[in-house]
Amino acid sequence: MNKYKEGADILDALKAVQAKKGYLSEEDICSVAKEYGRYPSEVYETATFYTMLHVGNKAEHVIEVCGSTCCDAGESAPLMAALEKELGIKAGETTEDGKWFLRRCECLGRCDTAPNVMFDGELITNARAEDVIAKIKAAK
Ligand code: FES
Repeated sequence: MNKYKEGADILDALKAVQAKKGYLSEEDICSVAKEYGRYPSEVYETATFYTMLHVGNKAEHVIEVCGSTCCDAGESAPLMAALEKELGIKAGETTEDGKWFLRRCECLGRCDTAPNVMFDGELITNARAEDVIAKIKAAK
């Protein structure tokens, strides 16, 4: 019997698939939709609504810079610019070698520690460009 029962659990199913392979493919979306008797478009809407899910992104590492109000006021824009320069890409792009994906995301729920960055699923609070760049270099 399926361990997931209802629509809200579709999110858990998507997270479980992503935990195994790092991203969600079109086939994954269709598979989850079939499992829950939903239209793929419904599951796609769920998958693309939540910023922690990465649809179609196959990059080895994902860096998300919160660009919502508190983080924006907390200087997330210069932080993003420093990361774009370090990786040689713009927000929303993946490096040519497929190793790094950088994007702006919405509020991560830790506005009190702005600016915040999600680095491969790990929240970095009070993020400073030099700290995130050090993590990038350590992972290269
Ligand atoms: S605005 Fe960035 S965590 Fe809330």
